[in-house]
Amino acid sequence: MTNHEIKVNFKEYQSLNDLSKPDHDLCLEAVKAMETSHSPYSKFRVGAALRLQSGKIIHGSNQENVAYPSGLCAERVALFQWGANYPNDPIEAMAVTAHTDEFEILQPVTSCGACLQVLAEYEKKQNKPIEIILFCNKGPVWVMNGVESFLPFLFFENRLLNEVKGER
Ligand code: THU
Repeated sequence: MTNHEIKVNFKEYQSLNDLSKPDHDLCLEAVKAMETSHSPYSKFRVGAALRLQSGKIIHGSNQENVAYPSGLCAERVALFQWGANYPNDPIEAMAVTAHTDEFEILQPVTSCGACLQVLAEYEKKQNKPIEIILFCNKGPVWVMNGVESFLPFLFFENRLLNEVKGER
């Protein structure tokens, strides 16, 4: 038996003011994006903003539905909009924030597995990692350089092509 250990790498900042100006601005866009959240069931509002290489900003917010599984997370609302409308303008960064009136969120909200899988697909498609910035009204800001930095065992298409020869 061999025990393997994988380290996850991310940066923590005390506040949005410690970010670069473009990243700071993108976080403000995520806050704006949250305004259109449709979350009458969870009352958990999420906003996501993508910054493309051209400077274009795309907003996404969580959209819930009375048939619960029909809803979608803020990240995928933004990412699918990119895939459908701007696929040739690479995504540089995605900022995500959340708010609820029910309690105070003290730690950044990390994206669900389905959103990370979609993010991974588009990173591969554009052949460039996407910086992920997670923050809330209070607490630290977490910055990850690409989805693989926190999902090392992601499902990638090379598994469908018998291209993995047992290395790790
Ligand atoms: N949600 C997101 O939009 N993004 C996340 O990263 C986590 C969860 C949404 C889905 C649902 O509308 C609400 O938050 C509660 O799960």
